[in-house]
Amino acid sequence: MKKLMVRGGRRLEGEVKISGAKNAALPILAATLLAEGECVIKNVPYLTDVDNIIDILRPLGMFIERQEDGSILTRVEDDSCSTATYELVKKMRASVCVLGPLLATRKKARVSLPGGCVIGIRPIDLHLKGLRALGANIEVIHGYVEAEGEKLRGAEIFLGGAFGSTVLGTANVMMAATLIEGTTIIENAACEPEVQDLANFLRKMGAKIEGAGTHRLVIEGVEKLTGTTYSIIPDRIEAGTFIAASAITQGDILIKDMRIDHLHAVIDKFREIGVEIRKVRENPETGLHDVRARGGKSYQSCDVATLPYPGFPTDLQAQISTVLTLASGISVITEKVYPDRFMHMSELNRMGASVRKEGNTAIVLGVDFLSGAPVMASDLRASAALVLAGLVARGETVIDRIYHLERGYEKIADKFAKLGVEIKME
Ligand code: EPZ
Repeated sequence: MKKLMVRGGRRLEGEVKISGAKNAALPILAATLLAEGECVIKNVPYLTDVDNIIDILRPLGMFIERQEDGSILTRVEDDSCSTATYELVKKMRASVCVLGPLLATRKKARVSLPGGCVIGIRPIDLHLKGLRALGANIEVIHGYVEAEGEKLRGAEIFLGGAFGSTVLGTANVMMAATLIEGTTIIENAACEPEVQDLANFLRKMGAKIEGAGTHRLVIEGVEKLTGTTYSIIPDRIEAGTFIAASAITQGDILIKDMRIDHLHAVIDKFREIGVEIRKVRENPETGLHDVRARGGKSYQSCDVATLPYPGFPTDLQAQISTVLTLASGISVITEKVYPDRFMHMSELNRMGASVRKEGNTAIVLGVDFLSGAPVMASDLRASAALVLAGLVARGETVIDRIYHLERGYEKIADKFAKLGVEIKME
C-alpha cells in the first residue's frame, strides 16, 4: 500500500497552478453520453476518479480516450448497453450521474446503487424523486436502480432535501431534462460552480437551460445535442487546499489559474483568521485569477458552518479545521451537509490536536504545535487535511491509504515539493 511521507517545518514558497475541477469533469464526461458526434473536453485533471468514470462510460458504448494534448475525446458508438455494474460503481459513487443521460437517450438505465462512504450514507432518493417526476418508472432491486421511461415529459420538481440542495441530483435531473419533451423546472437546485459548468457545457451542445447558478433551473427539452469542445473550470477545492497549506506553514505562495468568485466564503473565512489573500492578476483571455496567499504569524479562532454553495463548502471543512487546531482560542465547526464528516479529527488528535465532537459539531481548542505521527487517510478531503498537518508538525508524518488523495488531487506530491516541502511517496 502506497504511503506519503511529509517532514514538517518548511514554509511554503513559490507558485502552484490549479488543475481542472474533478467535480465538474465527472458530470461533464457523463453528459457526453447525450451528444451526437464528438466532444473534446479540455483541462480534465489526471485523477483516479476520472479513470473511474472512463471505465464506466466505455461499456456504455462510448469511445473515450485521453489525447496527446491532455484533452479527452468522446464519441458514442453503440447504445445497446445501459448497465453500470456494481464492480465499477462501488469504486466511485459519482458514477450515479450516468443515470440521467442514459434515461434521456436510451429510455432505460440499470445502475448499481452507489453505497455510502465514510462521510455519510449518501442516499440518492432525491435523484430518483426527480427522475420519477419526469415520468420514469424506477425500481430499486438487488442493489440496482432499474429505470425505464418511454414517454418522459418535463415537470416541476422541488429537489431540496434535509441538507439543502443536491449537487449530483441536480446534475442528473438537469441532464435528463435536456432531451425530453416539455419544460422542466427544478426548484431548490444546486448552485455550485460545477453545476454551472455542466449547464454551460450542455448549452454549448444546444440545450436550453436558464437559471444556472440560481436555485431555480428552467430546462426546455430539445431534439438533439451536438458534440462540442469545452474546457473545465479550475478546481476550487484544490485552490482552497493550497490557501490552507500556505496558512498553516506561514507561507507565501502564488496560486495560479483559479477563480476567486468560486471561493468568496472560503477567502472570507481565511481572512477572518488572519491569512492575507489578494488577487495579483486576471487573465483577460481565460478570466482566471492569480492569487497570493500569505500566512500570518498566528491565527484567530473562528466558527465555521458548512452549507451548500455559496456557503462554506463541506469539501474544505477538514482543511480549515486543520489550520484551526493551531489557532489561539476555541473554534466551533458545524457540518450541515455531512454531519459525520469528522473522521480526520481523530487522526489530528493523534498528532497533538485537541478536538471534541458533539453530534455534527466539532469543538477545536487551539494547541501550540502538532507532532508528526503515522496516520491513516479515510476519505479524499480528510487525507488532504493530514498532509496539511504533516506540513507543520514537528518531525515526520507518514500517511497510509494515500490512494484516497490521488482520487482528487492531481500530482499533489510534486506540487507540494515544488513549493519547498520535503515530501515523498513511499
Ligand atoms: C457532491 O456530492 C460532491 N461530489 C461532493 O464532493 C460534495 O461533498 C457534495 O457534492 C456536497 O457539496 C461530486 O460532485 C462528484 P449532494 P453529491 O447530493 O452530489 C444529501 C469530494 O470530496 N442527499 O450535494 O453526492 C447527502 O447525503 C466529494 O469531492 C440526500 O439526502 O452530494 C448530503 O447530506 C465528497 N439525498 C447532502 O444531501 C439525495 O438524493 C448533499 O449531498 C442526495 C443527497
